[in-house]
Amino acid sequence: MNFEWKQTTEQDLEQFNNWGKKDLKIQKFVDGKNLGNKILEMVENIGYDSGVFRVRSVYDNDVLVGVCVVIINKATKKSRNTLTLYNIVVNPELQNKGYGCAMMFDIVKNCEQIFGFKPRVIKSYVDKDNVASNKMHVNAGFELDKKLNKKLKKGKNIHYEKTLN
Ligand SMILES: CC(C)(COP(=O)(O)OP(=O)(O)OC[C@H]1O[C@@H](n2cnc3c(N)ncnc32)[C@H](O)[C@@H]1OP(=O)(O)O)[C@@H](O)C(=O)NCCC(=O)NCCS
Repeated sequence: MNFEWKQTTEQDLEQFNNWGKKDLKIQKFVDGKNLGNKILEMVENIGYDSGVFRVRSVYDNDVLVGVCVVIINKATKKSRNTLTLYNIVVNPELQNKGYGCAMMFDIVKNCEQIFGFKPRVIKSYVDKDNVASNKMHVNAGFELDKKLNKKLKKGKNIHYEKTLN
């Protein structure tokens, strides 16, 4: 597996929109509909790291493999130095081949190089029923955010965190 992180482009956004239209046999596509437009709305100036969002595309040679949107939390004292994984999506045609795990491992290992921000903790939340995503988080060393899970007991998401060295 030979992938690299790149700035997300307008062309990538079009492909993200197309991903959501695919008839997915492998897995229900979470938030896949109009994914590109949604990302565009979030980061008004794609290509520039504006606001709190960072978006990065993952390429394996010329193939667009995935995208990751994160939120940089440095505004309040409580959330300072945390990075929240807002969305991580693998091209539907390439799911279940190890790319998701590889992306997560790389985020944990090279967060600063990828997103230009060095957090103390990475936070994430996953739909309880999303088997692949839950496995991906656990494989990459994420642990349950016990406090938050307790607080939001009846929620449909599982909250994770990973403290970086
Ligand atoms: C979740 C997602 C990013 C995972 O990426 P991926 O490349 O498909 O996952 P991987 O191939 O690295 O597999 C991760 C684990 O999930 C398992 N898995 C993958 N697809 C699966 C499926 N459809 N059903 C059950 N298990 C699955 C793999 O076997 C692997 O488990 P293992 O460690 O026991 O071998 C990807 O499936 C995706 O984009 N899904 C739609 C969007 C989404 O749900 N994003 C997450 C939002 S938090």
